[in-house]
Amino acid sequence: MKTIDDLSKDGLAGKRVFVRADLNVPLEGATITDDGRIRAVAPTIARLADAGAKVIVASHLGRPAGAPDERYSLAPVATRLGELLGKDVAFATDTVGDSAKATVAALGDGEVTLLENLRFNAGETSKDEAERAAFADQLAALADLYVGDGFGAVHRKHASVYDLPAKLPHAAGDLIATEVGVLRKLTDDVRRPYAVVLGGAKVSDKLGVIDHLLEKADRILIGGGMVYTFLKAQGHEVGSSLLQEDQLPAVREYLARAEERGVEFVLPVDVLVAPAFPDLATKAATHPETVAADAMPAGKMGLDIGPETRKLYASKLADAATVFWNGPMGVFEHPDYADGTKAVAQALLDSSAFSVVGGGDSAAAVRILGFDENAFGHISTGGGASLEYLEGKTLPGLAALED
Ligand code: 3PG
Repeated sequence: MKTIDDLSKDGLAGKRVFVRADLNVPLEGATITDDGRIRAVAPTIARLADAGAKVIVASHLGRPAGAPDERYSLAPVATRLGELLGKDVAFATDTVGDSAKATVAALGDGEVTLLENLRFNAGETSKDEAERAAFADQLAALADLYVGDGFGAVHRKHASVYDLPAKLPHAAGDLIATEVGVLRKLTDDVRRPYAVVLGGAKVSDKLGVIDHLLEKADRILIGGGMVYTFLKAQGHEVGSSLLQEDQLPAVREYLARAEERGVEFVLPVDVLVAPAFPDLATKAATHPETVAADAMPAGKMGLDIGPETRKLYASKLADAATVFWNGPMGVFEHPDYADGTKAVAQALLDSSAFSVVGGGDSAAAVRILGFDENAFGHISTGGGASLEYLEGKTLPGLAALED
């Protein structure tokens, strides 16, 4: 993969450099609740601007339906990026229209613009190659060079990620180079014991990675909403908890394979339950009960791992040499159900393992719960992207930067 050093051989001064970033940050209204992804790519943007480039930053945010939608505007991100860079970031109110063209034309050397959400244009995510290519052509017309630095989106075969690099001299940005360097340590020559903590709501999102990790990891710890499909697969009742019935056969197969291969599969021994999902807006107290994982009462839903499980998981991480963690252990956004996720974060800090926190949600959880992110080995900006990397899949956005 070429790097920015390769791209800068003929100098960057005066060149229009398109930077595909992943600025898909969580928002509450127009307030950014976690700016980790903006901070992660800011050094690349600053480096290009310092070299005199005219920097055109572009990203998606959320999943709008291929047309402008105020709720997904990147305007608040332009303001935050400007604060982090210490300079104005001109915001273009469209992607390839009059505003983008005029804003780019007005850029001086070393100046930065952010385009509006790429997904406001249907061509960005289209499955139709020609429609994607047409949008990529319009984006290419704005720039001289391309830097791919949106690690969180490299698993998407989208116009700005996959089609555009082929149309311009291109290189990987510093964030992608770092992310790939770290994830390689989890795929080549991993230091053992290698423990993996998987959380989040749906088993179906994690099937591919579990399948792959059964060949790689020594220990797999399960948390989050996924837990209840595993408990059900073991024959336990799970009350009104989240359950993916259609995944039960796959989960049973994984449990059997783990046993055959000597991979330790660790499930909660107790969970916190309540009659209903908590109100995340008011965060009103819910008085959860702690129950044994094999004796969940009817009509109650599991919302976090329990105190015994927190201790168990900490002990399973204490002697690991490598840990990968993706997905929260419970509904961490509500204080009644944040302790499981906090306990895993603390266990990683207490262990001397090389730890990688992958995933928008777990990375945001670590920061929102007040942990010092610098104390972790690496916090990835990619959720789905880091999982697909570990699955050994070819990621379109990395493949496009290869040649
Ligand atoms: C993410 O948040 O994982 C990335 O920004 C990709 O977003 P997407 O899943 O909407 O493509």
